[in-house]
Amino acid sequence: MKPNIKNVVMGLVTPVTLFGLLAINPALAREPYTKAELADQEKALLAVVDHGRDLWHGSKASMSTNGLACGNCHPDAAASNPQTFPKFQADLGRVIPIRDMVNWCIMVPQGGQPLDANSEDMVAMEAYAFYMYRGEKIQPGLATKQTAPVVVKSGPGFPKKGSGIGYDK
Ligand code: HEC
Repeated sequence: MKPNIKNVVMGLVTPVTLFGLLAINPALAREPYTKAELADQEKALLAVVDHGRDLWHGSKASMSTNGLACGNCHPDAAASNPQTFPKFQADLGRVIPIRDMVNWCIMVPQGGQPLDANSEDMVAMEAYAFYMYRGEKIQPGLATKQTAPVVVKSGPGFPKKGSGIGYDK
C-alpha cells in the first residue's frame, strides 16, 4: 500500500506539536501531585465542607426567619439526595441543579434570604451535601420518583430514642 503523504506528515507534526506545547507550558507536563500537595488540597476541601456543615446547622441568621435550620429536617444532609440532581422539581416546573433546591428550602420552609448561587456559602452548602453522600451512585432523577429519605452512612443521623437528644433529655 502506498503511504499517504498527508498521514506521514501528520504523524510527524502531531507529536512534535504536542511536545512543543508541553515544553512551553510546564503546567501540562507537571509531575503527579505530591503527598504534601494532596494533603493541602484535602485540607482546603474539608475546610469548605466544615463551613457547609455549619451553614446547614444554622450558622447564618439570614437563611431563616423561623428558627429552623436545614439540619432540623435534613440531619447530616439526610434526604437531600445530591446524587439525584439535576432533577425535575414539580413546584418550579423545571429541571434544577441542587443549588436551586437549597435556595427553595431557604425561602419556603425557613422563610429566609436565598444565597447568591455563585457564593462561597453556596459552594460550601453543596460541598457538605455531596461530601456526606460520597460513594452514592449518581442518578439524576424525576420529582415523581423521589428517593426515600436516606440517612447517610457518614453521620449520626436522626437522634435515636435513648440517645439523650430530643426524645428524652
Ligand atoms: C421544615 C423542614 C425543612 C427544612 C428546615 C429544610 N428542608 Fe429541604 N426539604 C424539605 C422538604 C419537605 C423537601 C421535599 C420538597 C419537594 O420535593 O418539593 C425538601 C427537599 C430538599 C432537597 C431535595 C431532596 C430531593 O431528594 O430532591 C434538598 C437538596 C434540600 N431540601 C435541602 C435543604 C437545605 C439546604 C435546607 C436548609 C437551607 C433545607 N433543605 C431545609 C424540608 C425541609
